[in-house]
Amino acid sequence: MIVSPMQHLANALRQNGLIRFIEHFAELFPTTHMKDMVVERMDPHRVIEVGGKKVVNFGSDSFLGLDQDPRVLDALHRGIRRWGSHNGASRAFSSVQANIDAEDKLAEWLGTEATLIYPSVTLANMGAIPGLVGRQDVLIVDEQAHNSIQEGAKIAKANGTRLFSFSHCDPEALAKVLDEAGDYRCAVVAIDGVYSMSGELPPLEQLNRVCLQRRAILYVDDAHGTGVMGRQGRGTVLDALGDYDNALVIGSLSKGFSCMGGFIGCTHEMKRLLKMRSNTYIFGGPVAPCYLEAICTVCDILNSAEYELLSARLHRNIRQLSKGLIDRDLVVLGGQTPILSVLVGDEEDTLNGGNYLFEQGFYVQSVTFPAVPYHAGVLRIQVNANHLTESIAGLLDAITKLSKVIRLPGPEMVARRAA
Ligand SMILES: Cc1ncc(COP(=O)(O)O)c(C=O)c1O
Repeated sequence: MIVSPMQHLANALRQNGLIRFIEHFAELFPTTHMKDMVVERMDPHRVIEVGGKKVVNFGSDSFLGLDQDPRVLDALHRGIRRWGSHNGASRAFSSVQANIDAEDKLAEWLGTEATLIYPSVTLANMGAIPGLVGRQDVLIVDEQAHNSIQEGAKIAKANGTRLFSFSHCDPEALAKVLDEAGDYRCAVVAIDGVYSMSGELPPLEQLNRVCLQRRAILYVDDAHGTGVMGRQGRGTVLDALGDYDNALVIGSLSKGFSCMGGFIGCTHEMKRLLKMRSNTYIFGGPVAPCYLEAICTVCDILNSAEYELLSARLHRNIRQLSKGLIDRDLVVLGGQTPILSVLVGDEEDTLNGGNYLFEQGFYVQSVTFPAVPYHAGVLRIQVNANHLTESIAGLLDAITKLSKVIRLPGPEMVARRAA
């Protein structure tokens, strides 16, 4: 049989390890593999309809619930009336005034001299990381840093930068890698501000101390900290380090901000340099102007006294969920941020667990290898400010029922296994 070149390519792709793994799971667990869920309807309190079934969505990054805020929606409409649907040019050629306004407002809120907006955090990482370093430099990445940092690092490596990784969140391991790296002109250490699968926070102060002692700078992808952590939601960096003198901070405009895009907070000088060195900024299209108008509105909300109310609502919900999970003697990763992951372990149990909760009326994300280590599957729960208290209580009750169907490890079981 003659195989077309396209079919030949598809067959070759099927040999890829990751694709084989995913297809194997999809075949083994056709009903529990909820990866392509389509939401048909949603309400203001995170109730969604999927296949006609109503469930509470605990899988949204819109942590503050601003995706439903009438002021944000008005700003989007205003932006469309003012600018149309899109500004069809790379920003290397031209920007609209809304771009300048949004970058200025973001910088004022964040407390940096300047910010530079990219179409997403992924594109910020894949443009800025290879742009910052060259052949004489070293790039050191936390082994569990987000995939977009790892991909940006691969481009930097292909361009000649020496690339190293260090053990997750371990300042001593970082010091050792920097010491063993030999001579370098500059060193950039790339980490997450909040680890997205576990909600874990890195020891920023200690890592920065190691960097300062060895002429390195920190590059912190704070995508999940933006809008929800720190004073006025400015993220994890400023509160931990006191200033941005030795850190570039990367924030998300799609998660807590509920808009679109990513940004880098830096000096005016660094912004000018990044604009010339980031290929994803130069050769790609920009965030649509209507979102830039909405970003300005969100900055005003975060900078106002109202932020305390929103944040209090979110953190009350985090506490309710966190306490409920710990009271149930479960192993909970995170707890200080809106991402809480309940350890399940086995891949099949993790998928079945997510499916069981869905049947009970609650959507959480079943996360398995390769997003987490093999046999360390988790049920990833994202809490939002607009979740109702009774929805969180309902999820906790459903998890109690789940623990009677699937064996969920407790802290003692994990300690016993580790011993
Ligand atoms: C740490 C981190 N960086 C980057 C991203 C991707 O962000 P974006 O959707 O803006 O590309 C995520 C998404 O979850 C993330 O957790």
